[in-house]
Amino acid sequence: MESKKKWKGSYKMEKILVVFYSRSGRTKKVAKAISEILKCDIEEIFDTKDRRGVSGFLSAGNDAVNRRFTTIKELKKNPSIYDLVIIGTPIWAGNISAPIRTYLSLHKEDFKNVAFFCTCLGSDAKKVFTDMEDICQKPPLALLELTSREVNRDQYLQKVKEFIKNLEEKLKK
Ligand SMILES: Cc1cc2nc3c(=O)[nH]c(=O)nc-3n(C[C@H](O)[C@H](O)[C@H](O)COP(=O)(O)O)c2cc1C
Repeated sequence: MESKKKWKGSYKMEKILVVFYSRSGRTKKVAKAISEILKCDIEEIFDTKDRRGVSGFLSAGNDAVNRRFTTIKELKKNPSIYDLVIIGTPIWAGNISAPIRTYLSLHKEDFKNVAFFCTCLGSDAKKVFTDMEDICQKPPLALLELTSREVNRDQYLQKVKEFIKNLEEKLKK
Protein backbone atom coordinates (compact mmCIF):
# COMPACT_ATOMS: atom_id res chain seq x y z
CA MET A 1 0.00 0.00 0.00
CA GLU A 2 1.21 3.53 -0.76
CA SER A 3 2.22 5.64 2.24
CA LYS A 4 0.03 8.53 3.41
CA LYS A 5 2.93 10.08 5.35
CA LYS A 6 4.98 11.31 2.40
CA TRP A 7 2.77 14.33 1.71
CA LYS A 8 4.43 17.52 2.94
CA GLY A 9 2.12 20.22 1.52
CA SER A 10 0.94 23.25 3.51
CA TYR A 11 -2.62 22.04 3.76
CA LYS A 12 -3.60 23.61 7.09
CA MET A 13 -4.09 27.09 5.60
CA GLU A 14 -7.83 26.74 4.98
CA LYS A 15 -10.77 25.35 6.88
CA ILE A 16 -11.78 22.32 4.88
CA LEU A 17 -14.60 19.79 5.14
CA VAL A 18 -14.81 16.46 3.31
CA VAL A 19 -18.41 15.30 2.75
CA PHE A 20 -19.28 11.94 1.25
CA TYR A 21 -21.88 9.24 0.82
CA SER A 22 -20.85 5.62 0.42
CA ARG A 23 -23.09 2.57 -0.02
CA SER A 24 -20.36 -0.06 -0.02
CA GLY A 25 -17.30 1.63 1.48
CA ARG A 26 -15.16 2.71 -1.49
CA THR A 27 -16.01 6.41 -1.53
CA LYS A 28 -15.65 6.33 2.25
CA LYS A 29 -12.11 4.94 1.98
CA VAL A 30 -11.11 7.78 -0.37
CA ALA A 31 -12.86 10.41 1.77
CA LYS A 32 -11.00 9.21 4.85
CA ALA A 33 -7.66 9.29 3.03
CA ILE A 34 -8.30 12.88 1.87
CA SER A 35 -9.33 14.06 5.33
CA GLU A 36 -6.38 12.30 6.97
CA ILE A 37 -3.89 13.93 4.61
CA LEU A 38 -5.53 17.34 4.96
CA LYS A 39 -6.13 16.83 8.69
CA CYS A 40 -9.59 18.26 8.16
CA ASP A 41 -13.17 17.57 9.26
CA ILE A 42 -15.24 14.87 7.62
CA GLU A 43 -18.98 14.29 7.33
CA GLU A 44 -20.60 11.06 6.19
CA ILE A 45 -24.05 11.47 4.65
CA PHE A 46 -26.57 8.83 5.70
CA ASP A 47 -29.63 8.00 3.63
CA THR A 48 -32.87 7.20 5.46
CA LYS A 49 -33.78 4.88 2.58
CA ASP A 50 -32.41 1.34 2.96
CA ARG A 51 -29.98 0.84 0.06
CA ARG A 52 -28.83 -2.66 1.09
CA GLY A 53 -29.26 -5.79 -0.97
CA VAL A 54 -30.83 -6.23 -4.38
CA SER A 55 -33.86 -4.02 -3.66
CA GLY A 56 -31.54 -1.30 -2.32
CA PHE A 57 -29.37 -1.56 -5.42
CA LEU A 58 -32.40 -1.26 -7.70
CA SER A 59 -33.87 1.69 -5.79
CA ALA A 60 -30.47 3.41 -5.84
CA GLY A 61 -30.16 3.04 -9.62
CA ASN A 62 -33.76 4.04 -10.19
CA ASP A 63 -33.58 7.12 -7.97
CA ALA A 64 -30.29 8.22 -9.52
CA VAL A 65 -31.37 7.85 -13.13
CA ASN A 66 -34.58 9.77 -12.41
CA ARG A 67 -32.60 12.44 -10.53
CA ARG A 68 -34.74 11.94 -7.45
CA PHE A 69 -33.97 13.30 -4.02
CA THR A 70 -34.00 11.30 -0.82
CA THR A 71 -34.19 12.20 2.85
CA ILE A 72 -30.76 12.34 4.46
CA LYS A 73 -30.10 12.16 8.19
CA GLU A 74 -29.29 15.28 10.18
CA LEU A 75 -25.83 16.72 9.52
CA LYS A 76 -23.16 17.16 12.17
CA LYS A 77 -21.20 19.89 10.34
CA ASN A 78 -22.35 23.24 9.01
CA PRO A 79 -20.79 23.60 5.53
CA SER A 80 -21.08 27.41 5.58
CA ILE A 81 -18.23 27.79 8.10
CA TYR A 82 -15.71 26.10 5.78
CA ASP A 83 -13.52 27.75 3.12
CA LEU A 84 -13.69 24.62 1.01
CA VAL A 85 -16.10 21.67 0.95
CA ILE A 86 -14.82 18.56 -0.86
CA ILE A 87 -17.76 16.40 -1.89
CA GLY A 88 -17.58 12.73 -2.90
CA THR A 89 -20.14 10.41 -4.45
CA PRO A 90 -20.30 6.97 -6.02
CA ILE A 91 -21.67 7.00 -9.57
CA TRP A 92 -25.11 5.39 -9.75
CA ALA A 93 -26.51 4.60 -13.19
CA GLY A 94 -24.30 7.27 -14.73
CA ASN A 95 -25.52 9.87 -12.25
CA ILE A 96 -24.86 11.50 -8.86
CA SER A 97 -26.03 9.27 -6.00
CA ALA A 98 -29.38 10.41 -4.59
CA PRO A 99 -27.99 11.26 -1.11
CA ILE A 100 -25.31 13.55 -2.58
CA ARG A 101 -27.77 15.12 -5.04
CA THR A 102 -29.93 15.88 -1.99
CA TYR A 103 -27.02 17.27 0.05
CA LEU A 104 -25.88 19.51 -2.80
CA SER A 105 -29.39 20.84 -3.42
CA LEU A 106 -30.00 21.58 0.24
CA HIS A 107 -26.65 23.31 0.83
CA LYS A 108 -25.66 24.86 -2.50
CA GLU A 109 -25.96 28.36 -1.00
CA ASP A 110 -23.60 27.43 1.85
CA PHE A 111 -20.47 26.56 -0.12
CA LYS A 112 -17.64 29.11 -0.51
CA ASN A 113 -15.52 26.78 -2.64
CA VAL A 114 -16.11 23.22 -3.79
CA ALA A 115 -14.11 20.29 -5.13
CA PHE A 116 -15.55 16.97 -6.22
CA PHE A 117 -14.49 13.34 -6.26
CA CYS A 118 -16.21 10.15 -7.28
CA THR A 119 -15.70 6.41 -7.41
CA CYS A 120 -17.17 4.20 -10.11
CA LEU A 121 -16.66 0.98 -12.03
CA GLY A 122 -15.50 2.85 -15.11
CA SER A 123 -18.14 5.31 -16.24
CA ASP A 124 -17.00 8.65 -17.56
CA ALA A 125 -17.32 10.96 -14.55
CA LYS A 126 -17.49 14.16 -16.66
CA LYS A 127 -21.29 14.26 -16.74
CA VAL A 128 -21.54 13.63 -13.00
CA PHE A 129 -19.08 16.42 -12.23
CA THR A 130 -20.91 18.79 -14.59
CA ASP A 131 -24.21 17.98 -12.84
CA MET A 132 -22.62 18.62 -9.44
CA GLU A 133 -21.29 21.96 -10.69
CA ASP A 134 -24.70 22.89 -12.11
CA ILE A 135 -26.40 22.22 -8.77
CA CYS A 136 -23.78 24.17 -6.78
CA GLN A 137 -23.57 26.95 -9.37
CA LYS A 138 -19.83 27.00 -8.68
CA PRO A 139 -16.89 25.66 -10.65
CA PRO A 140 -14.98 23.02 -8.66
CA LEU A 141 -11.39 23.87 -7.70
CA ALA A 142 -10.30 20.32 -8.48
CA LEU A 143 -11.71 16.95 -9.55
CA LEU A 144 -10.78 13.39 -8.68
CA GLU A 145 -12.12 10.27 -10.36
CA LEU A 146 -11.20 6.81 -9.11
CA THR A 147 -12.28 3.36 -10.18
CA SER A 148 -13.54 0.77 -7.72
CA ARG A 149 -10.61 -1.37 -8.81
CA GLU A 150 -8.07 1.32 -7.85
CA VAL A 151 -9.76 1.70 -4.47
CA ASN A 152 -10.04 -2.05 -3.87
CA ARG A 153 -6.34 -2.49 -4.60
CA ASP A 154 -5.28 0.55 -2.54
CA GLN A 155 -3.89 2.17 -5.68
CA TYR A 156 -5.42 5.58 -5.24
CA LEU A 157 -3.10 7.62 -3.03
CA GLN A 158 -1.03 9.08 -5.84
CA LYS A 159 -4.15 10.49 -7.50
CA VAL A 160 -5.42 11.75 -4.14
CA LYS A 161 -2.14 13.61 -3.60
CA GLU A 162 -2.30 15.17 -7.08
CA PHE A 163 -5.89 16.26 -6.35
CA ILE A 164 -4.77 17.91 -3.10
CA LYS A 165 -1.86 19.59 -4.86
CA ASN A 166 -4.25 21.02 -7.47
CA LEU A 167 -6.48 22.26 -4.70
CA GLU A 168 -3.64 23.97 -2.90
CA GLU A 169 -2.53 25.72 -6.06
CA LYS A 170 -6.06 27.01 -6.67
CA LEU A 171 -6.49 28.12 -3.06
CA LYS A 172 -3.23 30.11 -3.22
CA LYS A 173 -4.51 32.16 -6.18
C1 LIG B 1 -27.12 1.33 -8.07
C2 LIG B 1 -25.72 1.40 -8.59
C3 LIG B 1 -25.49 1.86 -9.87
C4 LIG B 1 -24.19 1.95 -10.36
N1 LIG B 1 -24.00 2.47 -11.61
C5 LIG B 1 -22.73 2.66 -12.05
C6 LIG B 1 -22.50 3.27 -13.32
O1 LIG B 1 -23.41 3.70 -14.02
N2 LIG B 1 -21.22 3.41 -13.73
C7 LIG B 1 -20.16 2.96 -12.99
O2 LIG B 1 -19.03 3.12 -13.43
N3 LIG B 1 -20.35 2.40 -11.76
C8 LIG B 1 -21.60 2.23 -11.29
N4 LIG B 1 -21.81 1.66 -10.07
C9 LIG B 1 -20.66 1.21 -9.28
C10 LIG B 1 -20.28 2.21 -8.18
O3 LIG B 1 -20.20 3.53 -8.67
C11 LIG B 1 -18.92 1.85 -7.62
O4 LIG B 1 -18.88 0.51 -7.21
C12 LIG B 1 -18.54 2.75 -6.46
O5 LIG B 1 -17.16 2.65 -6.21
C13 LIG B 1 -19.30 2.41 -5.20
O6 LIG B 1 -18.96 3.31 -4.21
P1 LIG B 1 -19.30 3.03 -2.67
O7 LIG B 1 -18.59 1.76 -2.28
O8 LIG B 1 -18.74 4.21 -1.96
O9 LIG B 1 -20.77 2.91 -2.53
C14 LIG B 1 -23.09 1.55 -9.56
C15 LIG B 1 -23.33 1.08 -8.26
C16 LIG B 1 -24.63 1.02 -7.77
C17 LIG B 1 -24.86 0.57 -6.35
